[in-house]
Amino acid sequence: MQAYLDILNRAVADYSRGDRPVVQAPAASELQQILDLSLQQEGADLDVLEQAVQDYLHYNPDSAQADYFKLLYSGRNNAALLGDWITSLSNATMHTYQVGPVATLMELELIKNWNSLVGFNEGDGLMVSGGSQANLIGMMLARHKVCPEFKTRGADGRRLIAYVSDQAHYSAQKAVNVLGIGSDNLVAVATDDEGRMCPQALEAAIEESLAAGHQPFYISLTAGTTVVGAFDPVLECRAVADKYDLWLHIDGAWGHRYCFLNSPAICWRIQVWRILSPGMPIN
Ligand SMILES: Cc1ncc(COP(=O)(O)O)c(C=O)c1O
Repeated sequence: MQAYLDILNRAVADYSRGDRPVVQAPAASELQQILDLSLQQEGADLDVLEQAVQDYLHYNPDSAQADYFKLLYSGRNNAALLGDWITSLSNATMHTYQVGPVATLMELELIKNWNSLVGFNEGDGLMVSGGSQANLIGMMLARHKVCPEFKTRGADGRRLIAYVSDQAHYSAQKAVNVLGIGSDNLVAVATDDEGRMCPQALEAAIEESLAAGHQPFYISLTAGTTVVGAFDPVLECRAVADKYDLWLHIDGAWGHRYCFLNSPAICWRIQVWRILSPGMPIN
């Protein structure tokens, strides 16, 4: 183990040098010529391994530097890095309490706290890998609410319709595919000049579905759209959701911060997380 720790120490020292250029990778075709990434029959010895570590880090952009700008990035957090290392050291999974006892309790504690911060005192929660998965689970909860037998009987002749804005993240399209809703049943509701969903267009789309004999089941709003950072008008759309008794999900890409306006002590470094209502998977 010590030899590997030494490699890690040298790599970290080199990678943390403030004077490294942020980006050092040439074009992909050139890098393919520089590096030999072919798989070998024999395992690598420590020297080869250290060279591979150095090459990997050398050509990787240094996202922790202050002059690194790219969407969806925040800088490095050393406490989180330590957490990553310890997780790998423990070789943990979290599928049962027995194989991840402390991690399981930590997850429960985090979910309890996040719930109470946003006022879900009786809520439950789930950590997922990213926004796409959170949106998928949100839609699945909505599907279960409107069609509890979907898992065993499928849609049973009903045509379920979901509504997102025409600026929503493409994970909605993936979700209708994975959940068996069908991409023709995902309605892209018109937005205004600033990229916000028009509540009137939402209501008109729902009415159109009902007139066609379809079953509306899910509205997803975005608080911080991917391209222009638009916030859909939650209160107005909530009124529409209530009127038709539809599940309202919020893809809270940026919007979660607004839950904490009265909580100045919050300083988590969570890159992107989502809030669902009334179930609440958070990532
Ligand atoms: C608004 C929004 N929702 C969902 C996602 C998907 O998130 P992830 O890449 O974590 O699956 C993104 C990613 O850019 C996003 O901008």
